[in-house]
Amino acid sequence: MGAKQKIYITRRIPQPGIDYLSERFEVEVNPEDRVLRREELLEAVKSADGILCLLTDKIDAEFFDAAQHLKGVANYAVGYDNIDVPEASRRGIPVSNTPGVLTDATAEMAWTLLFSVARRVVESDGLMRSGAWGGWGPLQFIGGDVSGKTLGIVGTGRIGTAMALKSQGFNMKVIYTDIADNPVLDEKCNARRVDFDTLLRESDFISIHVPLMESTRHLFNTDTFKKMKPSAYLINTSRGPVVNEAELVQALKNKELAGAGLDVYENEPAMVDGLADQVNTVLTPHTASATEEARTNMALKAARNLASMLEEGVAPPDCVNKEIL
Ligand code: GLV
Ligand code: GLV
Repeated sequence: MGAKQKIYITRRIPQPGIDYLSERFEVEVNPEDRVLRREELLEAVKSADGILCLLTDKIDAEFFDAAQHLKGVANYAVGYDNIDVPEASRRGIPVSNTPGVLTDATAEMAWTLLFSVARRVVESDGLMRSGAWGGWGPLQFIGGDVSGKTLGIVGTGRIGTAMALKSQGFNMKVIYTDIADNPVLDEKCNARRVDFDTLLRESDFISIHVPLMESTRHLFNTDTFKKMKPSAYLINTSRGPVVNEAELVQALKNKELAGAGLDVYENEPAMVDGLADQVNTVLTPHTASATEEARTNMALKAARNLASMLEEGVAPPDCVNKEIL
């Protein structure tokens, strides 16, 4: 038997994924719990046959030039806008993501943000902890109603669909935008596919579930915020650049919408100036998939995808550029 193939993991992930790969390959893991600097990443992949990377790693032509032995890239995320997939395909390198295992966790986070912002949970929590609460009051912390309201889903893939299905416990009306009808939502939620302007105009809550692509970059901007109800809330658990963050802050200041619940940001880990000063926002640090089961299953899924790229020469289960195989 020849030497084992080499795998590089760009940051520690849940152990089952590392164990799975270690049984089969020579595995090296970034020893520090931080994003690799560019030159570290390029150095680390020089001798790698496979890489398990994160959404915080930019995988582009320069990276592929550095990784001369590379046979596969497994992204530890469902979104893969961090990877130049056409460039990988040109070089015959398969790329995989982790769909399916973080669907409910992400939809649950979108619901968490929705309720938290509507019911002003973070502001209220701050008051309690400050010791300044003076007792019950009829006008304290009045927020938005959820039950019976209209939920607008932008993008009804796996996560958008899960988000919508969970709304039925609250008797919400569901409308959505997508490139095609979603028969599951139409049947189970009596949902209606509408054009984008109608969604903006009619929704009490808008939840974004599209991938980041050129066509979705800054989909939400000054013009779209003006079309929303001033009482409506925006929830984003997809990718930050789908929302123009500076224009969102301005719209919140102008009260063109009631609030926003965000898990993702345009230039992570930075936030645009002024966002943190808006009390009508709830802000989480890109943790929508951060549950015990979701993160463990993402690790296993990424590991299995990578192993199949290296071992069997067969299509990994979640290859996003299958056409090259
Ligand atoms: C997280 O953002 C993911 O794409 O999995
Ligand atoms: C509120 O606590 C109520 O009893 O109405």
